[in-house]
Amino acid sequence: SDEPTISITIVGASGDLAKKKIFPALFALFYENCLPEHFTIFGYSRSKMTDEELRNSISGTLTCRVDSRDNCGDKMEEFLRRCFYHPGQYGSDENFSELDEKLREKEGGRLSHRLFYLSIPPNIFVDVVRCASLCASSPTGWTRVIVEKPFGRDSKSSGELTRSLKQYLSEDQIFRIDHYLGKELVENLSVLRFSNLVFEPLWSRQYIRNVQLIFSEDFGTEGRGGYFDSYGIIRDIMQNHLLQILALFAMEPPVSLDAEDIRNEKVKVLRSMKNLQLDDVVVGQYKGHSKGGRAYPAYIDDPTVPKNSLTPTFAAAALFIDNARWDGVPFLMKAGKALHSRRAEIRVQFRHVPGNLYKRSFGTDLDKATNELVIRVQPDEAIYLKVNNKIPGLTMRLDSSRLNLLYSAKYTREIPDAYERLLLDAIEGERRLFIRSDELDAAWALFTPLLKELEEKKIAPELYPYGSRGPVGAHYLAAKYGVRWGDISSEN
Ligand code: BG6
Repeated sequence: SDEPTISITIVGASGDLAKKKIFPALFALFYENCLPEHFTIFGYSRSKMTDEELRNSISGTLTCRVDSRDNCGDKMEEFLRRCFYHPGQYGSDENFSELDEKLREKEGGRLSHRLFYLSIPPNIFVDVVRCASLCASSPTGWTRVIVEKPFGRDSKSSGELTRSLKQYLSEDQIFRIDHYLGKELVENLSVLRFSNLVFEPLWSRQYIRNVQLIFSEDFGTEGRGGYFDSYGIIRDIMQNHLLQILALFAMEPPVSLDAEDIRNEKVKVLRSMKNLQLDDVVVGQYKGHSKGGRAYPAYIDDPTVPKNSLTPTFAAAALFIDNARWDGVPFLMKAGKALHSRRAEIRVQFRHVPGNLYKRSFGTDLDKATNELVIRVQPDEAIYLKVNNKIPGLTMRLDSSRLNLLYSAKYTREIPDAYERLLLDAIEGERRLFIRSDELDAAWALFTPLLKELEEKKIAPELYPYGSRGPVGAHYLAAKYGVRWGDISSEN
């Protein structure tokens, strides 16, 4: 057929992300018939490996959707036959030219696009981009590059990285991934807001008391201490994943669903944010803890982390958007590792009902009567709204109940992994879920002064036990704005 082919090269193929996420996502796309008929996948990294060894190393991580298992084995075989490996140095023109030869051979003279996925540490981004663009660009079709964070450590280094990448690529060739944007419930945020009548009218300071963006993991930085220590939780989670969710949550309605229209609105919100104040931030670091006869390590027990590290593994912050819609509404962010649960959610707490006729039913604690909309990104994807309801019976007693859309109960289809959505979009040239360079600049502009201040003043993180609910400072920060964290209250 005349359909163009695509060659996908995963640079850093022997790494964790490639094995756990990228190859499985590509297989899922293949399984769902989302890849062109002719395609080739190359793994590229420094390790010596044969094609067969690469196939063996990834075959264990591929899975088929539960609802369509029939020809799973055949499909895997077929997929693995299209996977190849080329060992090479990351900064070698020669090695990338060899890759180019192999790609041409597989492409067999067809019109071919090339996608490079950079699953490598940031210090070699530019080398790889230089070699790939000079020696292994598609001679006939487009060439695109997917890059993963960290995009620098602050405004300056991020700007330098962007400038270096742009020596070899144009902005429309660069696909900056924030994989949270590929998550089903994050993508659904705009649908919820803009295709329902009942939410958008309430979406402002007039009805919303505060918004909480919560990320927690019940494991530490195990094995990633080396990377993590030079970044910390604010750069790892807040500046990107949580801030992106905030932007989608708070943006004005875009002119259309086009990538540029959506990203224009996101940039506007980010640029409307107030400078982050040090006293609106709490940082923490996990310490060792033993529970049930098991010992859980401290962050600094990781051999790749310096014993005197001040790197936060937890942070909470209160942010404000200086515009007509959100003036004065606290957006509280909380992100941490080695906490008691794994979850990511958005919680919207509405104002109290003025002159509530039923206030006596709630005793003195009016917060219990607050409507709360919860968008649970993971696990157990759900959207629920807490409403007050009369407990059936002859007495007038109220309780807080849930209108609950639990995905697993409503939809039988398995939710695709974020990387499937994003890889497919990159292949199709859909940029809506990728970060534009001015968006990235705005995100860094917001966090850079705070990060500098934390580092210059050597602010010591508050220690919290592995597996706990995090530093108590986060509670006081919320209390300062009259807020309680929704995930911590008894019935969350
Ligand atoms: C990554 C962070 O971006 O996101 C990790 O670098 C974190 O520290 C991960 O564990 C969480 O992603 P997910 O999809 O498992 O919630």
